[in-house]
Amino acid sequence: MDDRERQKEAAAKAAAAWVRDEMTVGLGTGSTAYYFIQEAGAMVRAGIRLRAVVTSEATGKLAASFHIPVIPPEEAQTVDLAVDGVDAVDTDFCAVKGGGGALLREKIVAWKAKQVIWIMDESKPVKNLAGFPLPVEVLPFAASWAADAVKELGGNAVCRQRDGKSFFTDNGNRILDVVFPKERDSRLAAEAVRQIPGVLETGFFDRMCSRILIGTTGGVRELVNPNKEKAPLQG
Ligand code: A5P
Repeated sequence: MDDRERQKEAAAKAAAAWVRDEMTVGLGTGSTAYYFIQEAGAMVRAGIRLRAVVTSEATGKLAASFHIPVIPPEEAQTVDLAVDGVDAVDTDFCAVKGGGGALLREKIVAWKAKQVIWIMDESKPVKNLAGFPLPVEVLPFAASWAADAVKELGGNAVCRQRDGKSFFTDNGNRILDVVFPKERDSRLAAEAVRQIPGVLETGFFDRMCSRILIGTTGGVRELVNPNKEKAPLQG
C-alpha cells in the first residue's frame, strides 16, 4: 500500500470512531469511501447494528459484500452520519465532488444527513476551487444545449466519456465536466450552471460537512466546520 492509500485508510478509520450502534449511515462513493465501508463492515461483523443508505450502485454492491444492511431512502427516516470522499476541498469547507459520477445521490445524502464527515488524503485540500473542473449531472436530453449554455456563461463543458463511450450515471444521466477561468468565483459559477434547465445538480458542495479528516504522513488532521448547521458530533 502506498502513502496515499495509507492516508485514505487512516482518515476512514478516524471517521469510523464516530459510528454508533443503531445508526443509519450514508455511504459515499470512491476509493477513499471504500476504506470507510470496509471499516463499517468490520464493525457490523463485530456486532454493531447499522443500516446504510448508499450513494451509488458500486457502493451498494460493496456494502452488501461486507454484509452491511442496505436500505432504500424511503425506509430511512433520517441519516445519522454520512461519510464520503471529495475531489478537492477549499479552506472554506466547500468541496468539488463527482469525479466518480455519483454527485447527485451524494449531495442528496449529504443534505439529509445530520452529520457529514469528509475523508481524504493530503492531496485533496486546496486553497481555493477556482479553475477546478466541476462535474455537473444533466438530463441526457439537455446535455448538448446545457454545454452550449456553459460556454455562454464563459466556461467550457465536455460531456464525459469512459473507455471511449458515453458515460451515464446510475440515474441514467450524463455528466458535463465544466471548467471556468481561474478568475471566476467557483461558488457563483456553480450557482449559474445550476440554473440551466436540464441541469440536475452540480458537484459543488457548499460547506455541507460537519468535519473534515485528512490523512497525512504525520497522522490524521481534523477540521471542524464552524459555519455548518449540521452541529459537529460529540465524542
Ligand atoms: C464520486 O462521484 C466522487 O464524488 C468521489 O466521492 C470523489 O471523487 C472522491 O473519490 P476518491 O476518494 O476516489 O478520490
